[in-house]
Amino acid sequence: MRKKLFLAVLVVGFVATATAFGAEVNKGAKEEVIPAGSQGDVKFPHELHQQALQDCKACHALYPETPNAIPDMKQKGALKPKQVMNQQCVKCHNAKRAAGVKAGPVICSQCHGRHS
Ligand code: HEC
Ligand code: HEC
Ligand code: HEC
Repeated sequence: MRKKLFLAVLVVGFVATATAFGAEVNKGAKEEVIPAGSQGDVKFPHELHQQALQDCKACHALYPETPNAIPDMKQKGALKPKQVMNQQCVKCHNAKRAAGVKAGPVICSQCHGRHS
């Protein structure tokens, strides 16, 4: 009886430890490239945003943490063209700027590969 209890405690302890330290979060690439049709690709500093915002859901509430999520959803009509740009990128950069803190670009050519 005591031996069984001891074993059970051991197993529970092991599982808890594995969950706490074993399961690494996949943070994806440090830099992402987001296609934007004829406007040209947008280089996106992913790690910088993870550090600055400390909130994955600030972006990934709208699209999942999977490669090519944005172009795939746009293709299926689940995201409109410019939806991410207007509702996230530019919206947040404008809000940060208005708050007088560090922000990102809001000028087309500072994000898009092809100057527009
Ligand atoms: C400011 C917006 C933003 C934040 C915050 C953000 N991400 Fe992302 N993430 C993106 C974008 C944009 C992509 C690229 C989507 C695409 O390829 O269409 C992406 C892609 C990913 C991918 C898949 C692509 C790859 O490189 O493997 C993973 C995994 C991921 N993010 C994890 C995270 C995690 C974990 C956090 C929080 C620690 C986070 N992201 C925070 C915007 C963000
Ligand atoms: C902060 C970065 C950023 C800025 C500034 C920006 N864009 Fe974008 N834009 C993106 C991203 C990322 C996408 C792709 C995701 C999407 O469609 O929402 C995009 C998508 C687009 C698209 C859709 C392309 C397609 O075929 O689906 C157009 C058009 C566009 N941008 C035009 C502009 C114009 C014009 C400006 C300036 C007034 C501008 N963008 C400023 C990041 C930016
Ligand atoms: C919720 C807020 C938020 C969202 C959403 C967001 N950004 Fe930013 N972005 C920031 C902040 C804050 C900074 C300044 C970070 C710093 O310099 O520490 C920044 C900086 C940048 C920079 C400049 C990086 C540098 O090296 O100076 C680029 C480029 C950029 N963002 C692109 C994007 C694009 C493209 C998207 C959409 C896919 C996006 N951002 C979405 C908050 C946001």
